[in-house]
Amino acid sequence: MPEVPVITIDGPSGSGKGTVSARVAAALGWHILDSGALYRLTGHAVQKAGIGFNNPTQAADIARNLDVEFQDGQILLDGEDVSLAIRTEQAGNNASRVAAMPEVRAALLDWQREAARPPGLVADGRDMGTTVFPDAPLKVFLTASAEERAKRRYKQLKEKGIASNIADLAAEIRERDERDSTRAASPLLPAEDALVVDSTGMDIDTVVETILRAARERGLGTA
Ligand code: DC
Repeated sequence: MPEVPVITIDGPSGSGKGTVSARVAAALGWHILDSGALYRLTGHAVQKAGIGFNNPTQAADIARNLDVEFQDGQILLDGEDVSLAIRTEQAGNNASRVAAMPEVRAALLDWQREAARPPGLVADGRDMGTTVFPDAPLKVFLTASAEERAKRRYKQLKEKGIASNIADLAAEIRERDERDSTRAASPLLPAEDALVVDSTGMDIDTVVETILRAARERGLGTA
């Protein structure tokens, strides 16, 4: 298979990865992989199956056999639209629980690698640069302070009509960061060769432009 160029964008929740990845992919005309959605879908399916969150073998089985369709911005799980359901804080916590299971991470690995299709892929997640695409020619680690991330998340949820409050969100973000960065399986850490971008106080356009410039410097895409 010919080498497909991949830009990995990793970082904690609320760092703006989703928006930035979508903008970078659109500018380059590349595909996008929202790997967090796969963990959210697995968490959702595990909860629905009622097997609890202490059963990695069965959770991995569920992950391997997810019946998912991505359709015009909608995500269907077993034919049911779960686009909103997988974006709640509860769904984020369930995702974080299954993401801590090495069996689940292994089950989702091939699925994620198969997303690398021409002309290129922007892969958004936590371990895209360290584990899933270690040979990617551009790896970005996008971060921001927990307070700033809580404010952004609050705004995002509000726009979707989901009620929340900033203090609770900041506490949940810290808790999830802690779990994601200290877990044994693929902890959330920048790849050694990652370009670290701290977006606190930076607008989205500047972040996107910084990444596109780094892509051009590496001869990626034509943007
Ligand atoms: O980016 P997100 O908030 O949708 O991710 C949901 C959860 O999944 C989060 O707790 C981290 C985890 N995750 C992961 O461990 N590895 C990835 N590549 C993507 C997400």
